[in-house]
Amino acid sequence: MRLHGKRALITGAARGIGRAFAEGYIREGAEVVIGDIDIARARETAAEIGASALPLDVTSQESIDAAMAEMQAGGGIDILINNAAIFTAAPIVEIDRATYQRVFDINVAGTLFTLQAAAKLMIEQGRGGKIINMASQAGRRGEALVAVYCATKAAVISLTQSAGLNLIRHGINVNAIAPGVVDGEHWEGVDAFFAKYENKPLGQKKKEVGLAVPFGRMGTAEDLTGMAVFLASKEAEYIVAQTYNVDGGNWMS
Ligand SMILES: NC(=O)c1ccc[n+]([C@@H]2O[C@H](COP(=O)([O-])OP(=O)(O)OC[C@H]3O[C@@H](n4cnc5c(N)ncnc54)[C@H](O)[C@@H]3O)[C@@H](O)[C@H]2O)c1
Repeated sequence: MRLHGKRALITGAARGIGRAFAEGYIREGAEVVIGDIDIARARETAAEIGASALPLDVTSQESIDAAMAEMQAGGGIDILINNAAIFTAAPIVEIDRATYQRVFDINVAGTLFTLQAAAKLMIEQGRGGKIINMASQAGRRGEALVAVYCATKAAVISLTQSAGLNLIRHGINVNAIAPGVVDGEHWEGVDAFFAKYENKPLGQKKKEVGLAVPFGRMGTAEDLTGMAVFLASKEAEYIVAQTYNVDGGNWMS
């Protein structure tokens, strides 16, 4: 029960990694609120796992403010996981401005302004807090077909450093997790992009990336949960502005 009595908001937790984090946090005694743009799925997930759900579009300041007001009314916020993100892929010469803007709006501005709103509330509460941003191995280096998504995740690593340094004086730890390749609905979409651009049958890229992981397989959302619990716990109090790779050995830094 390492998170007993803590209130957590997890963005994009209607499914995938965020959902696994929500389940892990509940097992550790936290009260979890799922904030997701897909509110129907968020409510369904919340009912299944014993969380609650609120509608949240991280690209809208109004929506972020409303979500934070709801957190405040319900007893405040101790933990934020900035998990909502989308993926895109295209060769450099095919990247379009609208897609670039949308992916940056969700993955970067969404992370920054949700973090900002949570930090304001945490400062007002005066009881510190923990903020965890979801980065990626994609943020550690570029990929030929993944320029935009990689750039957003590099930005998340950088924002984690700046926010971590700025907010620790308020007792707010900001850190990030950089997963490698994690099986789930997200990767169905990633696989489809590679099928198109690398001319592979559906499912082929997924098999290849799994075999290439030093651990010997793709990750599962549950493989990441231990790190998400640890970074939100009291044991992580002295950890500031870091990004941890949890990727079966794909990247070392
Ligand atoms: N799956 C992987 O292989 C992998 C690898 C590295 C990093 N990550 C990162 O981990 C995080 C979770 O990934 P996942 O695989 O669970 O993804 P996912 O696509 O399964 O889930 C993303 C969730 O975010 C929600 N969302 C999308 N746009 C939103 C918005 N504007 N506002 C609020 N919610 C929104 C979706 O409804 C969905 O529930 C992401 O940040 C992703 O970039 C995933």
